[in-house]
Formats: sequence, C-alpha cells, structure tokens
Amino acid sequence: MDIIILGIESSCDDTSAAIIRNGFVLSNRVANQDIHKEYGGVVPELASRAHQLNIVPVVDRAIRQSGISVKDINAVAFTRGPGLMGALLVGTSFAKGFALARQIPIIDVNHLHAHILSLFLRTEDEKEPVPDFPFLCLLVSGGHSQIMIVNDYLDAKIIGKTIDDAAGEAFDKCAKVMGLPYPGGPLIDEYAASGNPAAFEFSKPKIPGLDYSFSGLKTSFLYFLRDELKGNPNFIEERKSDLCASIQKSIINILLDKLVIASEEIKIKTIAVAGGVSANSGLREAILEAGKRRDWKVFIPQPKYSTDNAAMIAITGYYKYLKREFGNMADVPFARIKV
Ligand code: KG4
Ligand code: ZN
Repeated sequence: MDIIILGIESSCDDTSAAIIRNGFVLSNRVANQDIHKEYGGVVPELASRAHQLNIVPVVDRAIRQSGISVKDINAVAFTRGPGLMGALLVGTSFAKGFALARQIPIIDVNHLHAHILSLFLRTEDEKEPVPDFPFLCLLVSGGHSQIMIVNDYLDAKIIGKTIDDAAGEAFDKCAKVMGLPYPGGPLIDEYAASGNPAAFEFSKPKIPGLDYSFSGLKTSFLYFLRDELKGNPNFIEERKSDLCASIQKSIINILLDKLVIASEEIKIKTIAVAGGVSANSGLREAILEAGKRRDWKVFIPQPKYSTDNAAMIAITGYYKYLKREFGNMADVPFARIKV
C-alpha cells in the first residue's frame, strides 16, 4: 500500500506544502514572503498574517500538482518548532484541522531534524545518491549551526554547536552592515562570485572542541568597515564584491575547519551539509574540494531543498509514520529547541 504524507512548513517566513509518496517527492510548493524585505529582517506578526493568507492556496497547489486525491493522504506532518511562535501556530492549527476533517493522524516534526532528512529528497525519476549511515552532517541555517552524527533517519546526535550566532546570521548581519536587504546570505553569495576572497582578512575565533562562534567575525567586519569608511565614504560600494567574497570565505573556513576535525576525531568520512546556508555556492564548492583531498563521500541537498521547504517535513513525517510515531491533538508548537 502507498504511504502518502502531506507536509506543512511555516516556522519562519516561507509557507510551504508538499506531498511525499513512499519517501519520494510528488510536489513541493513554497510561497516566500517579500513583505519583510523593507524591514531588514523577519517581522513575526507580519509572517503569521502572511502564513494565514498563503496556507490554503499553497496546500491546494501542492495537492493538485502531486496528482493524488485528498482522500489518499495517510497523515499530515507539520513543523512543531523551533521557529516563530505565531508562524508555527498557523501551520500547526492547519495540520490539526486537516487531520481532524480527514480522520488521519498528525505527525509533529522538528525543523532541524527535517533539514537533515532533506538530504534524502528526490523524485522517483531522480537517481541522486543518498548518504549511508552513519554520516556527519553540518547543519547550517538562519538560527542554528551544528555538527551532528546521524545514525539513522530518526537518530541524530549534536557533537558541536555555535555558542553565539549561527552561520546564516553571520551572513545576514554582515550583509546588513553593507546596506544589503534581508536575507543577505544569497546576495553575498551573488556578489562574491565576482570578488577576490583573499582581498581582506578577518579575525578567526579560537573556540575549543567542535563548537562554533561567529559573533567575533561580525564585530571584526563591522569595525573594519567603520575604519575604512572614515578614509573613503564609498568604500563599500567600490569594494562590495571583494568584501562579500572575503567574508564568505571567512565563514566557510570557520565551518570547514571544525568539520575536518570532527571527521578525523569520529572517523567518519561520509559528510553532508544541510540547512539554508548549504545553498551557498562557495560552501558547496569548498566542501566538495575538501572532500576530494580527504577522500570523503560528500552529500549536499539540491538547492531547492537547502532552504526551508515542506518536502523535508513530509519525508521526516514519512519515516516517523513507518515507526508509528504520531503526534496528538494536544501538541503545541515550541519556539526554541528543548535541551
Ligand atoms: O534553513 P533556512 O532557510 O531557514 C532557517 O531554518 O533558518 O536558512 C536561512 C538562512 C538565512 O540566514 C539565509 O541568509 C541563508 O540561510 N542562506 C544563504 C544562502 N541561501 C540562504 N546564505 C549564504 N548563501 C546562500 N546562497
Ligand atoms: Zn530552516
């Protein structure tokens, strides 16, 4: 019998719905919210309102595109957290309402767990290889940066994490001080393509073990710009590509250094990267390059599955469904990760 899961993602500023059949993607629709651009960051209340407007049409499109019938859906998987509380509430409430109407189970999904399982997303026609267990996963998103050992679909352990900002935040904050709109990560990626990554050097954190820190880099970038602007008010405009290439290189080096140590310490050479920052072309190239030198098997999600999407929620729901790990109607969202 086919197992068909509807996935719902609404943790931040993307409203997304997807249909997965037997672990393969049938559809994955994402509605981005442009409204936040002019505010320089996501405004939680505006995000919730936009999710409310988007969720029904997005689910409708995902179901239509998949070609399945609503009555064939076996369960609804939804992002329970971490994320913005008001935004999560929209997806959670929708999932509960849908499940109640269809008399099917709900499956609560941890957004970070889902980013890891984005590595397994493909359609029935796509032959992309998927990682074998155990593997190390560098999980880099807007709110988290961590290294994990992934032992199975539903079994992952954090072995290193950021003690302050996440890598995505470092990208976004550095972009902001250069006057770029939110989210700055993709724009830094774009400008970096024509810049010199060796043009400027920024301070490197000295954090023991496998943990990360990005707040020092951001401060060093800010002070550097402040000093340069005193001598040349057009410094940012004139050197934007070099600045973007150099800051991107610094972030990538910090991420890779710890990943290399982790691989050597844990003796795992199957290496994956996931989360929004894994869409960064410099990071993708650098990991593939490091992998060649170190004989790693490297796995990176397709760019459309790097950033937030519901297909990753649905596939996590699928593996939880196989283990009968269902949620219940009393489940409430959680904004922060429980430790
Ligand atoms: O995983 P994600 O879509 O949302 C969260 O769960 O946080 O990650 C969003 C983060 C943002 O900080 C965004 O700037 C960053 O991923 N990002 C990128 C790129 N695409 C998205 N950072 C650098 N280069 C990119 N191409
Ligand atoms: Zn995410």
